[in-house]
Amino acid sequence: MVTMSIRRLPSGLIDRIAAGEVVERPASALKELVENALDAGASSIAIRLSAGGLDLVEVADDGYGMSPSEMTLSLERHATSKLPDDRIEDVSSFGFRGEALPSIASVSRLTIESRERGADGWKIVVDHGAPAGEGPAALPPGTRVRVEGLFDKVPARRKFLRSPRAEYAACSDAVKRLALARPDVAFAVDHDGRRALSVQRSSAPARVAALLDPGLERHGIGIDHARDRLMLTGVVSLPTFNRGMADQQFLFVNRRPVKDRLLVGALRAAYRDMLARDRHPIAALFVEVPGDEVDINVHPAKTEVRFRDPTAVRGLTEREGSSRRRRPGEGMSVSSTTNPPFRCLRQLFPSRSGGRG
Ligand SMILES: Nc1ncnc2c1ncn2[C@@H]1O[C@H](COP(=O)(O)OP(=O)(O)O)[C@@H](O)[C@H]1O
Ligand SMILES: [Mg+2]
Repeated sequence: MVTMSIRRLPSGLIDRIAAGEVVERPASALKELVENALDAGASSIAIRLSAGGLDLVEVADDGYGMSPSEMTLSLERHATSKLPDDRIEDVSSFGFRGEALPSIASVSRLTIESRERGADGWKIVVDHGAPAGEGPAALPPGTRVRVEGLFDKVPARRKFLRSPRAEYAACSDAVKRLALARPDVAFAVDHDGRRALSVQRSSAPARVAALLDPGLERHGIGIDHARDRLMLTGVVSLPTFNRGMADQQFLFVNRRPVKDRLLVGALRAAYRDMLARDRHPIAALFVEVPGDEVDINVHPAKTEVRFRDPTAVRGLTEREGSSRRRRPGEGMSVSSTTNPPFRCLRQLFPSRSGGRG
């Protein structure tokens, strides 16, 4: 038997191990960078990708920006501006772990450029965890982060990356989720020099239709339902406007994109009697719950959440509750009146399907 002594790992190695949790592929790096841009109060986000993000992932925002010393700190492990008082329950930002930038920097060539309003721009380059230069930078107020050659020098991870096409699909999906969550922010994506997506600031239903299916403008139902301390809003397709795959179902908890089995199950249950087993609705559903009702601190990539009261969440789509009237201009054409919970939608379908309300 070999005897081994315990040792503390060097920080560069710790970063690389953590990078495996936070960053799996270009799409996860992209998600982290876009979340940072949103947390920085951006109103417009421009994304550039090359080879599905394998060669380049770049995110430019018009948010607060960082001072040069904050930029240095942002690259340190567990350094975050988002937990001013140690209360994770109160976090309303996407980030809070302070892990993304150092993790990405340890497995790529990372360039951060940033400029606060009224100040000059600064740039820092890190090559696989090692400082590779810094100096003045010319850019508009905001932040631009460039990730080149993700996992190029980490063969064990590189092996698991897929074709540029598949990686691009994952990137596109990640942007879609965040763009659905934040219709108040403009998004543009360029892939290999071509404009792949562009959405202006808009209302939530208009953003959902623009990103998921323009047909939802006519064949969608606006959901706006409150029950106890929970609220459910969003857009779902009429049963007649269905798909062969469940690939257009986007779920959010407190504006955070989640892949939650409980919510997926509730959606399936709501349509059970109206759709064949192999048909699926289109849906973008937003659950709002008070911070103390949900634990977002389940997984580093944070696509899972844990509800304190799962039954109440399930009940949102199953039982009658108090519905509230939409504000003018907020709803879609078919749903400008009070929205019933899912179960009652069933009675509405015959008279409403296929036409404007
Ligand atoms: N686009 C950005 N604009 C302004 N500040 C940023 C931006 N990206 C990162 N930062 C700063 O760097 C810190 C570390 O970022 P990150 O590693 O993603 O951790 P977290 O988002 O969990 O705090 C953030 O807390 C924030 O202060
Ligand atoms: Mg972050």
